[in-house]
Amino acid sequence: MTLKPTLTAAALAALVALAGNTQAQTPPLKVGLMLPATGTFAALGEAIEKGFKLYVEEQGGKLGGREIQYFKVDDESDPSKATDNVNKLIKRDQVDVIVGTVHSGVALAMARAAKESNTLLIVPNAGADAITGPLCAPNILRSSFSNWQPGYAMGVVAAQKGYKRAMTIYWNYAAGQESAKGFKEAFEKGGGTVIKDLTLPFPNVEFQPLLTEIAAQKPDAVFAFFAGAGAAKFVKDYDAAGLKRSIPLIGSGFLTDGVLEAQGASAQGMITTLHYADGIDTPRNNSFRSKYAVNYKNQPDVYAVQGFDAAQTLAAGLVAVKGDTSKRDAMIAAIRKANIDSPRGKYTLSAAHNPVQDFYVREVKGRENVMTGVAVKVLADPARGCKM
Ligand code: BEZ
Repeated sequence: MTLKPTLTAAALAALVALAGNTQAQTPPLKVGLMLPATGTFAALGEAIEKGFKLYVEEQGGKLGGREIQYFKVDDESDPSKATDNVNKLIKRDQVDVIVGTVHSGVALAMARAAKESNTLLIVPNAGADAITGPLCAPNILRSSFSNWQPGYAMGVVAAQKGYKRAMTIYWNYAAGQESAKGFKEAFEKGGGTVIKDLTLPFPNVEFQPLLTEIAAQKPDAVFAFFAGAGAAKFVKDYDAAGLKRSIPLIGSGFLTDGVLEAQGASAQGMITTLHYADGIDTPRNNSFRSKYAVNYKNQPDVYAVQGFDAAQTLAAGLVAVKGDTSKRDAMIAAIRKANIDSPRGKYTLSAAHNPVQDFYVREVKGRENVMTGVAVKVLADPARGCKM
């Protein structure tokens, strides 16, 4: 005789109710994306979002068992609107985690608001040193770099090349100032001198008067910090002014990342330093690049990598607590212990929550920033002023 399992109407109702309850206990994780969708850095914001979503998709659309619900704010790379913008995510949308942003000035306001409200914040680009310095906090993490890091790496390389007199040129806000400071620190340690800093306000692109001054001073090299559309124009203007032939233009890799198509011949042969390069031949990077190309019909850049790794950082915490974000300390402890398997190469986070990572020397060849060596291995930001 076989027993046929049957359910009474009451048992069925109880099961349905239970399923409903289970769903109610695990709502989607609310992720606030605060990135630029307009202005000079719009393409950078788009690449970060694509990278983030690519990782989530790789995990079957869930992190730590939680579906993801996105809330988006265009920060316009405008520091004066940053506090209002971040509060849309914190107070109005009550997100579980904020991922943002590109611009250091905007990110500083976000870090202050995140610290005050104890909202989890993952910074997928902005390098403002203070975020993993005086503003450091258990709930603030970075998947990118500190502004000091790529500048310092380029200073090491410039000194090794035997340059003695360098000028710097940058947008006059945290990212430019701190990149140039990192460059100067390593360059002068290696025997060089920065003879002059030239600046213009973000996002101004009237470079001509400054290029005239470079021509007059004739330094051995020029270190520049620009990114996005501004970097595309600067590299072309530098070439058009006839400077490329006589004075090497070097910089942190943002000068040529994601903009080679626009820069064309003007960027060929340029040397930069960054924590990512196009030709890193590892299974992780190759798989990342091919999936990105298939999904989005274009090639990834450093910003896409940082977005991908912001999602990985979040996942490392969520998996450890099975998606239960109320276990914040355990989440952070798991992230601190994680070895993030990034397309850039594996990295860990410092005590201040900034990536400790290799910085590559890259040379522009065709449409790629090709890795030609390692400038500094496992470079940690000094995290000056961080007390955690
Ligand atoms: C920044 O503002 O921190 C930044 C912007 C673009 C590229 C790199 C850094």
